[in-house]
Amino acid sequence: AHQWQGVINEYRDRLPFEDNDPVVTLYEGGTPLVPAPKLSNLVGADVHVKVEGMNPTGSFKDRGMTSAVSKVKADGTEIIACASTGNTSASAAAYAVAAGLGCAVILPAGKIAAGKLAQAIVHGAQLVAVDGNFDDCLRITRELTEMHPVDLVNSVNPYRLQGQKTAAFEIVDALGKAPDIHVLPVGNAGNITAYWMGYNEYAGRTTLASFDDSALHMEKVVDTVPQMWGYQAWGAAPLVLGHPVEDPETVATAIRIGNPASWKYAEEARDSSGGFIDRVTDGEILEAQAVLAAEVGVFVEPASASSVAGLIKASKAGTVPEGATIVCTVTGNGLKDTVTALEGRNIEPDVIEPSVAAAVKVLGL
Ligand code: F0G
Repeated sequence: AHQWQGVINEYRDRLPFEDNDPVVTLYEGGTPLVPAPKLSNLVGADVHVKVEGMNPTGSFKDRGMTSAVSKVKADGTEIIACASTGNTSASAAAYAVAAGLGCAVILPAGKIAAGKLAQAIVHGAQLVAVDGNFDDCLRITRELTEMHPVDLVNSVNPYRLQGQKTAAFEIVDALGKAPDIHVLPVGNAGNITAYWMGYNEYAGRTTLASFDDSALHMEKVVDTVPQMWGYQAWGAAPLVLGHPVEDPETVATAIRIGNPASWKYAEEARDSSGGFIDRVTDGEILEAQAVLAAEVGVFVEPASASSVAGLIKASKAGTVPEGATIVCTVTGNGLKDTVTALEGRNIEPDVIEPSVAAAVKVLGL
């Protein structure tokens, strides 16, 4: 039986790695593209969800971390660092273990979901909690890594985007064509940049973010690229407003970002694809999270649900083309943030005596 080899080994001819380069991998990627018939009915299109919560640390970040950390390993630096709203730090901490490196994570104090914090801790990362938001943390981390022998593994490291673009390859490989529309959450805007790069490279074109010479060796797989539809959270929507947001706020802490690093690239993806970047409210995000859980069978964290929230919003506005092939990326696993998911729900069932009769009674059978 074939064992998936991780995104570098699976797509090496399209990534900046040679045969003898060290590969640090946890066998990330190869995630399911799940058809969602009920969502399809709801919006009148053919909808699939790319379940990135199935990656080794439970989010899409692992795709970029394998390539960023492999590059660090090749260069010989011994410590990596990142700013994070939680998932990048979880991933960096795990890949640092796999690589035998030290890892420092710079986090906004009190704003990291419990599961993600647990991951950074159990993988042995050094935690720095900042009285500030993600944007402050990224500024600090950039300066810190410039001044000290520590490598930055945020998505401003171009190797991160190289790894993350493989998600687009997987989608085209699974569908046998590019989708008409790709919908995804937007925070720091690395992922929309990476998907746009991946889709374009499969269509024999490059983007602003592409490595210079990579285009020269690329074989064309398809002729088309999708429209890119990005969704930010209402209170953290700088790309929609057209200016940075000083105090970003949203229940979707993963995308609680006011000044995205890949701003220009995200605009390129939006404009060159004929797509758009819009925003959804916290209420719409939580509603979509519930729909994904109860109608599709996929439990995602709040930020992940903003893609589906956006699709539902567009459908209500009548702007979803009938019958279009649509892929929604759901970026992170719901198990990372159970507190938010359970808010307002009754989670204390009546305790019964240990008998079948008592269970039958509770179930009303
Ligand atoms: N969804 C999840 C679950 C995320 O963790 C992130 C970003 C995004 C979407 C947005 O992706 O930044 O590439 O536009 N999380 C980063 C982190 C910021 O630190 O984990 P983006």
